[in-house]
Amino acid sequence: MTVLVTGGAGYIGAHVVRLLQQRGDAVVVVDDLSSGAAGRVSGAELVELDLTAPHSAARLEGVMRAHRVEAVVHFAAKKSVPESVERPLWYYRQNLGGLATVLEAMTAAQVPKLVFSSSAAVYGNTTSELVGEDDPTSPTNPYGETKLYGEAMARAAAVAGGPRFVGLRYFNVAGAGAPDLGDLGANNLIPMVFERVEQGLEPLVFGDDYPTPDGTCVRDFVHVVDLAAAHLSAIDRLSGDLAHDVFNIGTGRGYSVLEVIEAIGRATGAPATWQVSPRRLGDPATVVASPVRANQELGWRADKNLDDMVGDAWAAWRVRRGGRSG
Ligand SMILES: NC(=O)c1ccc[n+]([C@@H]2O[C@H](COP(=O)([O-])OP(=O)(O)OC[C@H]3O[C@@H](n4cnc5c(N)ncnc54)[C@H](O)[C@@H]3O)[C@@H](O)[C@H]2O)c1
Repeated sequence: MTVLVTGGAGYIGAHVVRLLQQRGDAVVVVDDLSSGAAGRVSGAELVELDLTAPHSAARLEGVMRAHRVEAVVHFAAKKSVPESVERPLWYYRQNLGGLATVLEAMTAAQVPKLVFSSSAAVYGNTTSELVGEDDPTSPTNPYGETKLYGEAMARAAAVAGGPRFVGLRYFNVAGAGAPDLGDLGANNLIPMVFERVEQGLEPLVFGDDYPTPDGTCVRDFVHVVDLAAAHLSAIDRLSGDLAHDVFNIGTGRGYSVLEVIEAIGRATGAPATWQVSPRRLGDPATVVASPVRANQELGWRADKNLDDMVGDAWAAWRVRRGGRSG
């Protein structure tokens, strides 16, 4: 099978490209390299294309026809929440415009299967102990809105004769499958703590008075290799009957900020101490996925734990920093 991966030169996309290649699929990557790196994609043709550029749908359709593409995994998007608040229209154009290009090209070239990167950001401030796909969706920023509306757009296109689609709602993605595949644009807890550790500073903990076991926020971290495997399961299951089209991709196990700092201490040898700062606006106490639907319908389950994620993320971090740290 030939799979076209948009954003395949990015953090998660590059992991999926490698897994597809390992199982013998042919891969074509489409990426404008705005945040990706061409060096991550070897053994796959790289087509440099901005999916929001004029005439990009026609060009993409040509690539799909030339390679007889049978499935698309669409990662290409912008992913910074604060940037999406500052530049909402650009985020809509990038994330929804790019998806519209992909859907148009797939419909024209009659490519039948689409797997789309969605996000836990579609839920907004969750209150359930375990967030299920049928919980209310109420994104709190334009980034999350582009993911929720992207699911709706793909669903509408499917009804109108476009590709069948699965949207995967990722929770907190971490780790690396190889030291050269780390996240170059991460702005979340684990790299933020690495940054402080590298500077010899104590990590900052934003609030220790949440209604959680140790008072710090609890999140569901999923290893990027487990996450990548979910995409292959989704491509395969799209051939059969699926009762649903959106799936949470998480572990169902939450880790608190302090547990993450302790795991980082184990991986780096740095003392697991921290400074408490005031809560940040809009941080929910607990966000943990119920992955039951993905377990049952996609036959997918995460099997890596927090120490795997932090250890692999640290190895990748050191490669990125030229081995200066640690
Ligand atoms: N990393 C996470 O924690 C996370 C969580 C939830 C959802 N997601 C989603 O997963 C997807 C991949 O995220 P990532 O972490 O790998 O990000 P990334 O920035 O590493 O990868 C995105 C890739 O898309 C490419 N790209 C961006 N805009 C493009 C455009 N207009 N045309 C062509 N290529 C373009 C970039 O060059 C890059 O290679 C995104 O859709 C993101 O919103 C990521």
